[in-house]
Amino acid sequence: MCGIVGYVGPQSATKVVIDGLRRLEYRGYDSAGIATIQDGLITFRKRAGKLGILESELEQNPLLNTHTAIGHTRWATHGGPNDSNAHPHISADGKVAVIHNGIIENFTELKNELLKSGVDFQSETDTEVVAHLLSEAMNVKDAELADALRSVCKRLRGAFTLVVVHADHPDLVVGARRNSPLVVGLGTAENFLASDVAAFIEHTRTAIELGQDQVVELRADSVHVTDFDGNAAQTSQYEVTWDIQAAEKSGYDTFMLKEINEQPKAVADTLLGRIRDNHIVLDDLKFDLDVLKSIDKIIITACGTAYHAGLIAKYAIEHWTRIPCEVELASEFRYRDPVLNEKILIIAISQSGETMDTLMATRYAREQGSKVLAICNTQGSTIPRESDAVIYTHAGPEIAVASTKAFITQVITVYVFALFLAQVRGSSMDIEALVREVSDMSAKVDVVLDTIEPVKQLAEQFKDASSVLFIGRHVGFPVALEGALKLKELAYMHAEGFAAGELKHGPIALIEPGVPVIVIVPPAKDSVLHEKIVSNIQEVRARGAKTIIVAEENDDIVEQFADYLIRIPQCPTLLQPVVSVVPLQVFAAEMATVKGYDVDQPRNLAKSVTVE
Ligand code: G6P
Repeated sequence: MCGIVGYVGPQSATKVVIDGLRRLEYRGYDSAGIATIQDGLITFRKRAGKLGILESELEQNPLLNTHTAIGHTRWATHGGPNDSNAHPHISADGKVAVIHNGIIENFTELKNELLKSGVDFQSETDTEVVAHLLSEAMNVKDAELADALRSVCKRLRGAFTLVVVHADHPDLVVGARRNSPLVVGLGTAENFLASDVAAFIEHTRTAIELGQDQVVELRADSVHVTDFDGNAAQTSQYEVTWDIQAAEKSGYDTFMLKEINEQPKAVADTLLGRIRDNHIVLDDLKFDLDVLKSIDKIIITACGTAYHAGLIAKYAIEHWTRIPCEVELASEFRYRDPVLNEKILIIAISQSGETMDTLMATRYAREQGSKVLAICNTQGSTIPRESDAVIYTHAGPEIAVASTKAFITQVITVYVFALFLAQVRGSSMDIEALVREVSDMSAKVDVVLDTIEPVKQLAEQFKDASSVLFIGRHVGFPVALEGALKLKELAYMHAEGFAAGELKHGPIALIEPGVPVIVIVPPAKDSVLHEKIVSNIQEVRARGAKTIIVAEENDDIVEQFADYLIRIPQCPTLLQPVVSVVPLQVFAAEMATVKGYDVDQPRNLAKSVTVE
């Protein structure tokens, strides 16, 4: 949610910043802007719309070649997506440029104060108050930019990453962080600041993740980090393990298609080193095993697609460990006064590790005495850092806004953790057999991808449908929800996922002749579930629905009820989501393509939502 880049060094700062913003566009694409310092003056360009529009502007109206710049790509919160609300925001004296990610909750109060003192506002954003406050703070004799930013930060409430430059300090970029992410990239005689390492990975892989309430002063040859009081802060460096190709399209038309096709590898990488002799090994899990033995309840909290992974987790955790498990939307969790204590384990699932709703739920749970396990894809991000333990999914960088490979690895990771819990608690289940089944899943996803071509034609067939319904039972229900979410996100179509048994209690009224219903059919050998869904298929067909059936390769019972049949490999019911979701991802991506929409950057969305 908003991408930020800052650079100081010998290269063309405009080029470095624009290249970085291109890799951060997944965080928001309502507008883009850049500021540099030329001849003692802030010079900037900013335009509503995607980065390409700013780039055209820069071609017609270039910036001089400078060595310091900051840039921003926006996901609008305060103020519509137009040129004046685009970042950077400039102080009235023209000396300060500010870019921001997050929300300043007390901005109205601060704005009123500034209005009273005669400041003229150019935008409707919360960010602009920082530009004016900072300019005031810099008007004091001998003021230092970092001191000024620290004093301003102390007046702000909410979530913010701020990156600023000042006309009198052409070789300095200063950043501050509370709740939203900010990473320093350490180069040789050059340094970088960004919301995500992807922005500078082509220049350096050595990074420092800034901590909560820290300020960084970035010069070409130095990086100095303090807290908001100016005390030097402890930092630790890490090396980014993935390379630049992982953040590029590698010949695919879209990042999403690339990421869908990377799923077998993502599953294999997530399992790597975690299975030994058909047992689960989680050597790096920082939990005292006694904690895991003593918990009597699990609550999973997450948002969006990660929430759907949580819904699947509930089935696996309860079935394999017999520990009661609830799943809750992170945005609701802390506001309903949930019952929490040290016997309840919270699992926070998040690809980015920065989703504000999930972060706030995590903090709240810890304050109430519960332990938190993060399942996360982004090393060094805030949610794992603020949790008691973390299991990283190894999906690699996910750039497309709609989550695919991260989702599959989240599901795999919850299986791994649930089986580990069962092991630790001395389950009498045949864990070895289950572990073998989980290890086979990467190859099974590969099989689905090899036979995916017919799914693409379905998009053309149903592109004019006014509504698409998805139904499933058991773990097929969250898969139905995920299939519908993907279609909404990418193809802007009305789509709903239902528990198939719930259809008759209301949603069946939506069925009319020709409505496509996508059915996720449980394995044929799970006869009770299978029989039930066959009845549900008949119910919708009797009312004229067109059925698109996702079923196992050996399932010939459903064939006669299918207008279209999509085959997936056989696997146990609990593991089926890993294969059954893949055709739904491809269907949604293809539908967006057929309709001429942007697959990687759907309207109104951002990949990492760092506001509540
Ligand atoms: C946003 C994205 C979704 C994602 C959700 C949770 O809404 O558009 O694709 O599932 O955030 O993100 P997280 O990074 O916490 O998994």
